[in-house]
Amino acid sequence: MSGKTKIFLIGATGYIGGAVLSKLLQHPSRTTFEVTVMVRTHEKAQKFESLDVRAIVGSYKEDRALLEKCVEGAHVVFSCADADDLGSVQAVLRGLRRRHAILGDLPILIHTSGTGILTKNQETRGMRTTDVIYDDSNFEQIASIEPDAPHRNVDLAIFQADKEGYVKAYFVLPSTIYGIAQTALAEHGLQNPHSQQIPRLILASLDRGEAGMVGKGQAFWPNVHIDDVSELYIKLWDAIVRDPEGVDHGVRGYYFGENGEHLWYDVSKAIAQALLELGLTTNPEPTPFTDLELEKYFGSVAMGELNGANSRARGTHSRALGWEPRYTTQDMLASIKPEILALIEQQKQN
Ligand SMILES: NC(=O)c1ccc[n+]([C@@H]2O[C@H](COP(=O)([O-])OP(=O)(O)OC[C@H]3O[C@@H](n4cnc5c(N)ncnc54)[C@H](OP(=O)(O)O)[C@@H]3O)[C@@H](O)[C@H]2O)c1
Repeated sequence: MSGKTKIFLIGATGYIGGAVLSKLLQHPSRTTFEVTVMVRTHEKAQKFESLDVRAIVGSYKEDRALLEKCVEGAHVVFSCADADDLGSVQAVLRGLRRRHAILGDLPILIHTSGTGILTKNQETRGMRTTDVIYDDSNFEQIASIEPDAPHRNVDLAIFQADKEGYVKAYFVLPSTIYGIAQTALAEHGLQNPHSQQIPRLILASLDRGEAGMVGKGQAFWPNVHIDDVSELYIKLWDAIVRDPEGVDHGVRGYYFGENGEHLWYDVSKAIAQALLELGLTTNPEPTPFTDLELEKYFGSVAMGELNGANSRARGTHSRALGWEPRYTTQDMLASIKPEILALIEQQKQN
């Protein structure tokens, strides 16, 4: 038995999980911990093993008993794959409960939620901004978030586990993450290098031949660079290691990942401008998506309309950990043209 801290990370091949794992592998205390991941193919598992990462082959969605067993073996769990899959989170909590019952230690769960949680009851559809801004250090305000807001049912289950006392749970809530991941794992072809919201808007815009937006794009959403948000997970973990009693957890354990906000119109306008420069559209202005387009490009009208909803957040609590994000909304807008070029390249290869 080694005396090393056992870390289990879920979502190692994902955009967020791969970026967090890449930072863990470069952490100054790397020799003091062992990292295990769960990946879906033997081929990927072998590649992770070659990077000194223990890899179990399985799916967090389908192999719940295996997931539970892996979690039971870890003192720290980074949950970076899915903010909405209650079943897998319940398996994680069963594993943590069992570990606590057998070993008596208090494991740590760092779970990924998202600022989409702030979008409930708006019916904004890109037509109006809101003045309501959520601050992650305002615990009363955070407690008022509705139980049926996006991601919230999963977070509530984790709050309950924290309250029962068999785990200390912390939450990173990224906003719109942007930037092509340029991490060690991405270089090894082991990590999805692309985010979700902006790439989907770009792919939709490429397909329809002009930039799209929801309504008039009049709603605010925060943004954060992938390098900054992955650093937030590390800052949070470092703070917990340094001062286990001093870092807020459970219902006080939200840490927003944001460094500025955008109007959705400005994102779509930047897509239009870049498409124009690349000769891929003749229209310098974004146009509203129809309902049919929202269904086609985002899975449903409701999912599509999230790209025209307000999510206003301030990461005061995150910054109190010593987190100092570097990239700004201007960097996000500047990232759009390179993202378009990379996505076109990816489409050519597929
Ligand atoms: N990206 C953002 O801007 C953002 C912001 C806020 C919150 N979030 C939330 O954070 C979570 C992770 O986001 P992400 O951008 O990192 O996603 P991602 O790049 O798609 O990564 C998802 C991870 O889950 C695994 N996975 C997906 N479907 C699976 C399945 N059916 N069975 C087993 N494994 C599966 C993937 O493994 P494979 O490589 O094997 O597919 C990958 O490791 C999501 O819930 C997302 O909503 C994301």
